[in-house]
Amino acid sequence: MPVITCIDDLKRIHRRRAPRMFFDYCESGSYTEQTFRDNCDDFAKLRLRQKVAVDMTGRTTAATMVGQPVSMPVALAPVGMTGMQCADGEIKAARAAERFGVPFTLSTMSVCSIEDVAAHTTKPFWFQLYVMRDEDFVSGMIARAKAAKCSALVLTLDLQILGQRHKDLKNDLTAPPRLTVKNLLNLATKPQWCLGMLGTKRRSFGNIVGHARGVGDLGSLMSWTKEQFDPQLDWNKVRKIRDAWGGKFILKGILDVEDAQRAADFGADAIIVSNHGGRQLDGALSSIRMLPSIVRAVADRIEVHMDGGIRSGQDVLKALALGATGTFIGRSYIYGLGAMGEAGVTTALDVIRKEMDTTLALMGEQDVRRVRRENLLVPKGFEGDWD
Ligand code: GLV
Repeated sequence: MPVITCIDDLKRIHRRRAPRMFFDYCESGSYTEQTFRDNCDDFAKLRLRQKVAVDMTGRTTAATMVGQPVSMPVALAPVGMTGMQCADGEIKAARAAERFGVPFTLSTMSVCSIEDVAAHTTKPFWFQLYVMRDEDFVSGMIARAKAAKCSALVLTLDLQILGQRHKDLKNDLTAPPRLTVKNLLNLATKPQWCLGMLGTKRRSFGNIVGHARGVGDLGSLMSWTKEQFDPQLDWNKVRKIRDAWGGKFILKGILDVEDAQRAADFGADAIIVSNHGGRQLDGALSSIRMLPSIVRAVADRIEVHMDGGIRSGQDVLKALALGATGTFIGRSYIYGLGAMGEAGVTTALDVIRKEMDTTLALMGEQDVRRVRRENLLVPKGFEGDWD
């Protein structure tokens, strides 16, 4: 068994074990992947301030996100097709998160259905909603999330149309993969993955197949988005969804100060500063660069969370220092899942928690909730003079 010391170790094993099209799906940004790269590169430009001779006992990473206690302010982000990275992936990730004491967010575009994840977990998870043209499907999904006792609804606003990811087109991405010669040759080198998939019935979009009408190619994320996602989504529709849900409400995909203000006016409980992992508007600023101005504008009214580029506990602390009260990881846990299933997700969370704990100590801090701007050295121009 290889020694895993960091998220990158998990990524290397994920690349080896998962079929190429699913690893590529995880590892892609849209178009030139500029924003995808910037999300990580901009974290690397920030430096943590070292403080010594401070009592380092009694450290804690515990916090809350939308009022819910978490063992660290790191939630698992909604990721489409997680159940294709390894069999029953959403159930495995949800169970690992539950044991670790952090929120798991199930994507609308998951392989395991919401009912299935609820049946295999004991604590409430969060549900992420995409707004589809079919209003009955949307209200049905909200009712299903309530019935599954989901404790927060995460409404994604930045994917009503899909940013092109070149590799997905070249790989002809579908769930499950089509049995072409190219795919079969690749699958032949992934015996563990194949065994897992042969042992499960969950191989397509579990929340949608049998629930949504009028989709041409049932296995393709590209067809789903083109044929189903509502291009007329606006703030009025956001209001309707908020009212229909009536519980904790989180708006994901905010990357602009005015949009953040709008979200706060709406009485959402939190926003997630996000560019969808660099998978949508290529050329947008990284989430970590946009975070400070959004925090200044709305953090007195609404919780500000962020995602995009977090690959370590140090990255989490940098985001907290810039004013986020919660963070989300996507790829960092998917690498773990693709590498080693449920144990891999636990390993990813454990790596990040240990990095946070040691880094806190070396920063002379004891409590993640007290990490602040003074813990950071920010290069001039980081926030930019962007017009
Ligand atoms: C879906 O959420 C995607 O980014 O592929």
